[in-house]
Amino acid sequence: MLAKVSKNIFLYASQNKALNTVAKKWGLKFGASQVVAGVNIESAINQVQRLNEKGLLCTLDHLGEFVSSREDALEATVCNTRTLEAIAKAGVNSNLSVKMTQLGLDIDRDFCVQNMHRILDTAKYHNNFVRIDMEDYSHCQITLDILKELRETYTNVGTVIQAYLFRAEQDVKELKGIPLRLVKGAYKESSKVAYQEKEKVDENYMRIIEEHLLSGSYTAIATHDHHIISKVKDFVQKNEINRDQFEFQMLYGFRTEMQVSLVQEGYKTRVYIPFGDDWFGYFMRRLAERPQNISFALRGFFLK
Ligand code: FDA
Repeated sequence: MLAKVSKNIFLYASQNKALNTVAKKWGLKFGASQVVAGVNIESAINQVQRLNEKGLLCTLDHLGEFVSSREDALEATVCNTRTLEAIAKAGVNSNLSVKMTQLGLDIDRDFCVQNMHRILDTAKYHNNFVRIDMEDYSHCQITLDILKELRETYTNVGTVIQAYLFRAEQDVKELKGIPLRLVKGAYKESSKVAYQEKEKVDENYMRIIEEHLLSGSYTAIATHDHHIISKVKDFVQKNEINRDQFEFQMLYGFRTEMQVSLVQEGYKTRVYIPFGDDWFGYFMRRLAERPQNISFALRGFFLK
């Protein structure tokens, strides 16, 4: 009951534009620095370097919420191309993750696609890869349509499929050959489109992981769930799937010891690193997802 109330409070805070705007002026607070790698690209690149030294690969995500003007979307596009340039200049091992609503998807589809072209051209020039994060259900079909369109020109782009959606298995079949990040799914979705019970989500998650791996496609398994990770290890061993065909992914600041031990066991492991001054919404969503994360916030609150 208490967990549900706190979840709703954090989700409400994450969606509150005024709070998000005020938080931009604060700098990272309340322990957010444990899950957000700084407010600028320099600090994010430093974290990439530090993680690379431990054998971890990275993906950078420039945080941005409530993009409702072309100006904001263009600014986000430039931030993303600059991030790709900074990765190349520093010679670190990281690709890029983007959200298309940040690039103007809700403003004008064609404008958003143009912005994606700018980012993908820069990525191609630097021989890098861009992952389109999957947002809520209302953006799912349009994201997949744009991805398929972009794949006609670029091979350095992939997306994410959410196991809680009934449609996930069919989507994975249709996207055979395309690099996919597979996740359980982070948004609150209706029972008309998504499984609501954890067991069913987990079951579907393993189903789509197995489907994509067996089709020979490159698969990123993005989870902190050690039960799933252990099942994946067994599955790849049993089916003689090469370790070059998949990677594990986890969020920055989560299960850091497990991230390193996966590398030590010889598994490719990538850390998703969010950065930027628009950190508040992301931080609130992480607190909503897992009440235990509140200890981050409390620790940060007392330390600052
Ligand atoms: P889940 O939260 O179901 O936890 C299962 C079990 O794992 C827990 O009961 C606990 O035992 C253990 N566990 C989990 N977290 C732990 C922790 N911090 N410490 C100790 N034990 C822990 N979603 C989306 O909709 N679109 C997207 O594009 C992405 N992208 C993305 C990238 C990356 C790299 C990750 C890791 C995740 C995403 N997600 C996402 C989020 C994803 O959909 C999902 O909401 C979260 O990862 C939470 O689900 P998990 O699979 O991690 O385990």
